[in-house]
Amino acid sequence: MLKKQLDFIRSKTDFIPEIAVILGSGLGALADEIETQCIIDYKDIADFPVSTAPGHKGRFVFGRIENKNVVIMQGRIHLYEGYSPQQIANPIRLMRLMGAEILLLTNAAGGINSDFHIGDLMVIDDHISSFVESPLVGKNDDEIGLRFPDMSEVYSKRLRDIIERTAKEEGTEIKSGVYLQFRGPNFETPAEIRMAKTIGADAVGMSTAIEAQAAKHCGFEVCGISVITNLACGISKTPITSEEVTETADRIAPIFKNLIKKSAGNF
Ligand code: HPA
Repeated sequence: MLKKQLDFIRSKTDFIPEIAVILGSGLGALADEIETQCIIDYKDIADFPVSTAPGHKGRFVFGRIENKNVVIMQGRIHLYEGYSPQQIANPIRLMRLMGAEILLLTNAAGGINSDFHIGDLMVIDDHISSFVESPLVGKNDDEIGLRFPDMSEVYSKRLRDIIERTAKEEGTEIKSGVYLQFRGPNFETPAEIRMAKTIGADAVGMSTAIEAQAAKHCGFEVCGISVITNLACGISKTPITSEEVTETADRIAPIFKNLIKKSAGNF
């Protein structure tokens, strides 16, 4: 299946990306600003999962950011859309086969850490994926990766340092912390957020950890940035809405886009 999908991509473009980027909810606008060389809609790729979430366009955008060749997923695939963890791994593996060696994951997340404010950016140091099934369950393809891959440094220290250094150079404040993935699509209860805090999560969301697992398995150097679009349930004084998530993402977009571009240039 992957081979067929790669052949299809190659029939459209011979572009070799160095960096793969996945843009989270409300953060897709970055892809409209790069020097675009080619766009491929997910729906045109055989057996490929299609994004159905609000604010997720559902296409690969190939182009240049700073001095780097990038492939951007403008729109990701979520568990809550009904896709399996194995389907979520598909685009990751395909981008690796296209030639990308670095994966930058981005997402909108609810803040749990009491030092976090709405609109903060957070470099992902590590994740908790224990509430969702691993994308590596099932028969292992030894050509893709190991049966039992190590997860001691999913988010590359080298890339985290570059992001933090770049943020400093750009005068952008950035926090760091642990991201916890729940299934969604409902936001969490206050009790779930208390539990998440107790077990060490700084931010919570409905994506990313599965993608990072699949990416680590297939040999990507991985990093991630969360936009804290709201305070998590029970910490927030008001009910959480997807409008609040998108509004914050829109507001932070200029700073976020600048940090992604400059970091990618420094990778
Ligand atoms: N919870 C889960 N996912 C999210 C949140 C949240 O509070 N904010 C943005 N994505």
